[in-house]
Amino acid sequence: MLGPPGAGKGTQAERLARALGIPHLSTGDMLRSNVANETDLGRQAQAFMEAGDLVPDELVTAMVIDRLQQEDAVCGYLLDGYPRNPAQAEALVEAFGDEVLELALMLEVDAEELIQRLVLRGEEQGRADDTEDVIRNRLDVYEEQTAPLVEYYESRDRLARVQGLGTIPEVFGRLIEVLAQ
Ligand code: AP5
Repeated sequence: MLGPPGAGKGTQAERLARALGIPHLSTGDMLRSNVANETDLGRQAQAFMEAGDLVPDELVTAMVIDRLQQEDAVCGYLLDGYPRNPAQAEALVEAFGDEVLELALMLEVDAEELIQRLVLRGEEQGRADDTEDVIRNRLDVYEEQTAPLVEYYESRDRLARVQGLGTIPEVFGRLIEVLAQ
């Protein structure tokens, strides 16, 4: 799942993974769990996450490679939040080969809606990086570092763009339609 912060990657990935019977692997969730459990990785990642910056590639890539080797991922997986830049995409190919990702599903949502969704979640759930300043930095980081992946996957004919505006079931329906093609 590819898309800016607040596009609905986590929301839709959870539903899609359940429908497909494969694990939903969210690097954001894995990192937040490491922070909550005060692991070494969590301690190294926390400041980057709170600022809305990317956690260094080597830390995240090692975590993902380890996770993809676990038994439940043998028959497929839905990656959410990884890769986050072309270097991470290349690291994945280097570790597992060119077939490692079949399709990048790109959720498209305009910036105004993204900010509204994240500010609302910040008020309701208090996620540490859902404050207005940090949200703006996350959006900038997305544009600078993650958006190049659109061209990366498009040039490899592995990108599907999906409109992310609408209700959660509407967006889910569009994703299912794309996967059925
Ligand atoms: P991560 O957890 O991946 O955060 P993110 O990309 O900023 O994404 P969000 O979880 O905020 O948004 P989402 O697109 O998943 O939308 P969601 O479904 O949650 O990463 C957090 C941090 O970890 C990063 O900043 C970085 O520091 C680090 N990190 C993670 N991966 C990394 C990597 N690979 N490399 C380096 N660092 C990494 O929905 C958002 C809100 O909108 C929710 O409240 C939801 O209910 C609502 N919503 C969803 N769909 C709709 C809809 N259709 N209509 C209205 N509201 C909706």
